[in-house]
Amino acid sequence: MTHSLRIPDLTIPARPEPGWLAGAGGAGAPAVDDIIRVRGGTRMTGTVHVVGAKNSALKLMAVALLAPGRSVITNVPRITDIAIMGEVLRRLGCGIRFDADDPVDPMMAHGGVPRSRSVTIDVPDVPGAEADYELVRRLRASICVLGPLLARRGSVRVAHPGGDAIGSRGLDMHVSGLARMGAEISGERGFVVASAPRGLRGAEIVLDFPSVGATENLVMAAVLAKGTTVIDNAAREPEIVDICTMLNQMGALIDGAGTSTLTVVGVPGLQPVRHATVGDRIVAGTWAFGAAMTRGDVTVTGASPAFLDVALDKLVSAGALVETRRGAFRIRMADRPRAVDVVTLPYPGFATDLLPMAIGLAAVSDGASLITENIFDGRFMFANEMMRLGADIQTDGHHAVVRGRERLSGAPVAATDIRAGAGLLIAGLCTDGVTEVSHAHHVDRGYPDFVADLRALGVEVARGGAAGGPGVPLGL
Ligand code: EPU
Repeated sequence: MTHSLRIPDLTIPARPEPGWLAGAGGAGAPAVDDIIRVRGGTRMTGTVHVVGAKNSALKLMAVALLAPGRSVITNVPRITDIAIMGEVLRRLGCGIRFDADDPVDPMMAHGGVPRSRSVTIDVPDVPGAEADYELVRRLRASICVLGPLLARRGSVRVAHPGGDAIGSRGLDMHVSGLARMGAEISGERGFVVASAPRGLRGAEIVLDFPSVGATENLVMAAVLAKGTTVIDNAAREPEIVDICTMLNQMGALIDGAGTSTLTVVGVPGLQPVRHATVGDRIVAGTWAFGAAMTRGDVTVTGASPAFLDVALDKLVSAGALVETRRGAFRIRMADRPRAVDVVTLPYPGFATDLLPMAIGLAAVSDGASLITENIFDGRFMFANEMMRLGADIQTDGHHAVVRGRERLSGAPVAATDIRAGAGLLIAGLCTDGVTEVSHAHHVDRGYPDFVADLRALGVEVARGGAAGGPGVPLGL
């Protein structure tokens, strides 16, 4: 069975009904195609191509708001979150068009839908200044329009995104940084309301923690501020570098991208540009863990192995052979992985978004692993689902001790967030049966056509059908 990832028509009703966007509403029984099943026991083999990073493309779309006129972003992943961000911008008055990407995604040779597209964004001279709750609750990342809209409009209302299934996720660093730049900020009826009646001005800002979202919002505000802004303890992720690269192409003056100190000299205006999104290191890392856990042999193209240094080193310690070249790597694992300890940290540390994969690896490794999560307080919530697959996991605060087993056992489980969904599917490949992951729309939020990619790597996988239980055919 082939499945097409459902990216809906991008116009959504003024008052969206629950479930307007392929299960994005969440609660209740899973929709029929909201289930992915995999059969365990296959070694992953072959080549998989990774397209642009979700966490870059979403913010590049917000960056476009800073210049009136037409910006084009290419290598944008074809995922639900991008569709929602397109709608956020459309409601701010932008014209949004998705086109076939150039070059065409090489994975098309393996079926499915194109994994990437280009997005053309026509930004009006005066964009809107309000992002409503209906969209922001579906896409926490829409908070990244706060900085650019404040810089362009001088006042803005963005719905407070709230927490999500991986933790509480505050906004205090976004707010205090913008306040140092002269903004007045308050919370009103679920909205963050910010205004800078006399314009934003350069400031010295020291972040308590290298927050990705706060760094992005502050840089996007600072590029049009009067004077120089210095952001210390800034996030250093490759996606931050990508955003700064696009901003500098637009005429911004940012120095230090990729280091802990960003210096931004404000300019009066920016020009629209065309920019290609950096490859997705988290998707690439997901395939790397999948290859190691299934004792496979996978070549990953489209993302730089340099951005996965710590994760690939861990896999080497676990027994994998990793060969790297520019923009690609090959990973092979002959024997059962050895247990390794993992500590998540801001980049260049081990990425929190790969934590579910690290737990999956530990669950099938020889020995016990200590996994420590330092970024999100709720990231271990999915561990209960992994335990349904037979994983031996004990959590205590932000630590988990995982005692590896030779094999897990297939079971119905539920995805609680994007990375948990992908991690459970990969873990399902190390079981003795069929694993059925419901709430698979979470996977669609971050992985373009995961099912077709799994199939191209030799995995027996199917999408759709009713939720499992006795007597329900598995459809494999
Ligand atoms: N935090 C605060 N106050 C703030 C900002 C952050 O307390 O003002 C806390 C958060 O609550 C969290 C920690 O700091 O505990 C890290 O937050 P950060 O701002 O760094 O993360 P984010 O911008 O909310 C992005 C990615 C996440 C990724 C993290 C860390 C996007 C859209 N999201 O989130 O990606 O895990 O950085 O690398 O870029 C995913 O893709 O599945 C995902 C969750």
